[in-house]
Amino acid sequence: MPVITSIADLKRLHKRRTPKMFYDYAESGSYTEQTFRENTEDFAQIRLNQRVAVDMTGRSTKSTMLGQEVAMPVALAPVGLTGMQRADGEIKANRAAGKFGVPFTLSTMSICSIEDVAENSDAPFWFQIYTLTDDDYNKKVLARAKAAGCSALVITVDLQLLGQRHKDLKNGLTAPPKFTLPVLMDLATKWRWGIEMLQTKRRFFGNIVGHVESAADPASLSSWTAEKFDQSLNWDRIKQLMDMWGGKVILKGILTPEDAEMAAATGADAIVVSNHGGRQLDGALSSIRVLPSIVSAVGDKTEVWLDSGIRSGQDVLKALALGAKGVMIGRAYVNGLGAMGEQGVTKALEVIQKELDTSMALCGERRIDALGRHNVLLPKDFLDNYT
Ligand SMILES: Cc1cc2nc3c(=O)[nH]c(=O)nc-3n(C[C@H](O)[C@H](O)[C@H](O)COP(=O)(O)O)c2cc1C
Repeated sequence: MPVITSIADLKRLHKRRTPKMFYDYAESGSYTEQTFRENTEDFAQIRLNQRVAVDMTGRSTKSTMLGQEVAMPVALAPVGLTGMQRADGEIKANRAAGKFGVPFTLSTMSICSIEDVAENSDAPFWFQIYTLTDDDYNKKVLARAKAAGCSALVITVDLQLLGQRHKDLKNGLTAPPKFTLPVLMDLATKWRWGIEMLQTKRRFFGNIVGHVESAADPASLSSWTAEKFDQSLNWDRIKQLMDMWGGKVILKGILTPEDAEMAAATGADAIVVSNHGGRQLDGALSSIRVLPSIVSAVGDKTEVWLDSGIRSGQDVLKALALGAKGVMIGRAYVNGLGAMGEQGVTKALEVIQKELDTSMALCGERRIDALGRHNVLLPKDFLDNYT
């Protein structure tokens, strides 16, 4: 068993053990990937404020998200095709998250269905939907999520159409993969992945295949979804979807104070400051750079969380210090899953929690809710470099 000390270690193993098509799907951003890169580069610009001779005993990373107790304020973000990174990936990720004490979010575009995850893991989870036009489908899928005990709904508001990722087009991404010569040659070196995949029946989009009539070709479901994305989306429609659910709602994909105000006015229980991990509008600012302006606009009206670019416990600390009440991680846990399955997701969470705990201690903090602007140092022009 390799010694894993960072998310970067898991990412290396993920790359080695997973078909190129799916690794590339995770590790890419849209167009030039500028926003994808800056999400992590901007975290690296922020420095931590060391304090000494402060009692660091009795520390805890515990907190709450939407009133739910969590081992640390880090939720697993919705990630499509997780069950292609590793067989039964969504079930494995939810098991790891449940045992660790953090929430898992199941994507509409998952391989394992809502029912698969509910029946095969004890932990309750959140469900994510896109803003689709098909209300027949929306109502049915939300009823299924309710029946499975999902306690909150994440509505992703930054995907009215799909940002272009060059690698996915070049790799001919499908789920399951089509067996072209390059794919077969790649699979020859990823035998563990192949054996596990042969042992599961979950290889298609489980929340869609069998639940919609027009989805005859399971592999090209992305085109089905693309047709159903609501390009005429507005805030009234978002409110309609929230009412259709009738429970706790998290709006994910907010990047400006203006949109945050609109989101808070809908009565959302939380918003996620997010650029979809750099997968939608290339050229948009990193989430961490816009976070403070959004916290000052709506931080007293709704819970403000952040995702995009978190690769360490120090990144979590930086986001919390700049006002986020919690964060979501995408690739950091997918790297763990692709590297070592359920054990790898647990490892990713352990790495992040240990880094968060140690860095909090060295910053002189013992509680999550005590973190604040005093814990970080920003370059002079960090917040107002772009006008
Ligand atoms: C491979 C991949 C697939 C994703 N699929 C979805 C999805 O199905 N629904 C969604 O709302 N967001 C999706 N996202 C965005 C994540 O929820 C999250 O916003 C993003 O991963 C955060 O950035 P990070 O990966 O740098 O942590 C996806 C992200 C990745 C990397």
